[in-house]
Amino acid sequence: MRVLVTGGAGFIGSHTVDLLISRGYDVKVFDNLEKQVHLNKKPNYLNPKAKYFFGDIRRIKDWTEAIKDVDAIIHLAALVGVGQSMYQPKRYLIINTIGTSNLYEILIKKGTFQKDKKDYSCKFKINLWRRRILLQRT
Ligand SMILES: NC(=O)c1ccc[n+]([C@@H]2O[C@H](COP(=O)([O-])OP(=O)(O)OC[C@H]3O[C@@H](n4cnc5c(N)ncnc54)[C@H](O)[C@@H]3O)[C@@H](O)[C@H]2O)c1
Repeated sequence: MRVLVTGGAGFIGSHTVDLLISRGYDVKVFDNLEKQVHLNKKPNYLNPKAKYFFGDIRRIKDWTEAIKDVDAIIHLAALVGVGQSMYQPKRYLIINTIGTSNLYEILIKKGTFQKDKKDYSCKFKINLWRRRILLQRT
């Protein structure tokens, strides 16, 4: 099973990648190496067993490329400066909210979600269940 970890070069994401790889998953990372976090360089802790796609969640075409051939997605790419979000609200809104909604736009266009509200909730539950299983399996 191939799992996409967005933000997989970050703090939580890179540990998630290590855990998944240690449990036998095939892992792909989608991260833009945000300058503020990574200071314009690739971190030296990146797990060499993962595949890396350096793109931006603000771009639909990057999401489309990133989700090709993956079975599950753990979405952790985000800006996380609580204080900074108070004086750069638009930047945080665009990356954290619009960036995430880009994935849903693609999945809706692909027909992954049905228009019926019941189906939306049902599939979200399945995704959450899958995520819990991924992280709990030994
Ligand atoms: N660190 C914690 O204690 C903690 C606790 C609870 C929840 N979280 C959540 O976990 C997630 C990750 O947090 P973190 O602490 O690992 O942050 P982090 O800054 O270490 O990692 C975020 C990653 O997202 C990437 N990223 C940022 N903008 C991007 C974009 N536009 N496109 C693609 N990639 C982008 C960054 O390059 C970085 O590698 C966040 O949603 C955060 O709210 C973190």
